[in-house]
Amino acid sequence: MLAGKIITVGITGGIAVFKAAQLVSSLKAGGAEVNVIMTRSAQEFVKPLTFQVLSGNSVRTDLFDEMRGAVQHIELATRPELLVVAPATANILGKVANGIADDLLSTVIMAASCPVLFCPAMNVNMYNNAVVQRNISSLRELGYEFVDPGTGRLACGVEGRGRLADLDQIMEKIESLLCYSKDMEGLTVMVTAGPTVEPIDPVRYITNRSTGKMGYAVAKAAAGRGAKTLLVSGPTALKPPGGVNFISVESALQMYEAVMEHYPAADVVVKTAAVADYRPKEVSSQKIKKRGGPLTLELVRNYDILAEMGKIKNKQVLVGFAAETTDLEKNSLLKVESKNLDFLVANDITQAGAGFGSDTNIVKFVYPGGDVKPMPLMDKTVLANRILDEALAVSQKRK
Ligand code: CTP
Repeated sequence: MLAGKIITVGITGGIAVFKAAQLVSSLKAGGAEVNVIMTRSAQEFVKPLTFQVLSGNSVRTDLFDEMRGAVQHIELATRPELLVVAPATANILGKVANGIADDLLSTVIMAASCPVLFCPAMNVNMYNNAVVQRNISSLRELGYEFVDPGTGRLACGVEGRGRLADLDQIMEKIESLLCYSKDMEGLTVMVTAGPTVEPIDPVRYITNRSTGKMGYAVAKAAAGRGAKTLLVSGPTALKPPGGVNFISVESALQMYEAVMEHYPAADVVVKTAAVADYRPKEVSSQKIKKRGGPLTLELVRNYDILAEMGKIKNKQVLVGFAAETTDLEKNSLLKVESKNLDFLVANDITQAGAGFGSDTNIVKFVYPGGDVKPMPLMDKTVLANRILDEALAVSQKRK
């Protein structure tokens, strides 16, 4: 998602400098052009060479070196699409909040024409200090972006808030700032994800291989683009993305109830969940003991949640998913039409790089009437945005 993006990373002097190495490396791996500026204190913790190797660009450290080379600090401030300061000390926050530009990084921030994201990291008492909190509040009011520090054991040995936020959180924020405008503001998006779990007895259940990755990626992307986002999810190992309302369910019946309750308010519904079509007719209240001979379980049909939504669709853009192993287009078209969908994301799970558990997908968008749009192999995050682009286009056409 970051391919071709130009990012300047400012590094100030705190023990979390070593974590900035991972950040620079991840940004670079994501395809961004990364330029690093280090303050003098930051260089006390880690040598510029580390960041030079990780970013593939020479590290800038001195305002006057830069000025001798044709006022490059202005270029450092105007060329990037995002300036990330990680870790951001109390000192840099104080300087920027009070208009001080006395070294290369503070000067570049002052002259920046792109969004500036601070990721503070410091001792808990410093972080809680009223002056620091006031500086953070005024910077927020001025439009500076923040990823708040986490809570835990700090380098100084005390427990509290002040450690640099997790890399995932910082990367999520960077992607949401860089990759999409808030083009879904005003829309309500409901996403379902993960498998459902159909109990047999207190110990056993029937489920499937869905990991939830695709649905969580769609929810995260929708929230990042400004939509009011609800994620209804079966059990997964994933953390719900920030900024998303989250409802956790287990069975298809629970998912049906949660989805139907929120359906009237939704503008877009993306139904990635792998809902069990059947559930055991009886759920034994006691653990079923083994006996001689085979055991027969009687299964009954669950609601087809998507089809139920299709029957009462009015303003909603309804997007379904289908995992197929044969006759992808034919089976998908049947589903689009029988469930009254706006389009279906059809996934041939026999292909390498597609389907359950992978971070990539190869899909085709199938539309009512039979139009088919094949998509190349793509990251689930990128695909999530393509799906939302398409849903947005349908929704705008309908207005
Ligand atoms: N779906 C649903 N409720 C169900 C079953 C599926 O809402 N009880 C939704 C899924 O979330 C997905 C789409 O319908 O968006 C999948 O369609 P479906 O016809 O169930 O696909 P398969 O399970 O692949 O169907 P089949 O077993 O008939 O191939």
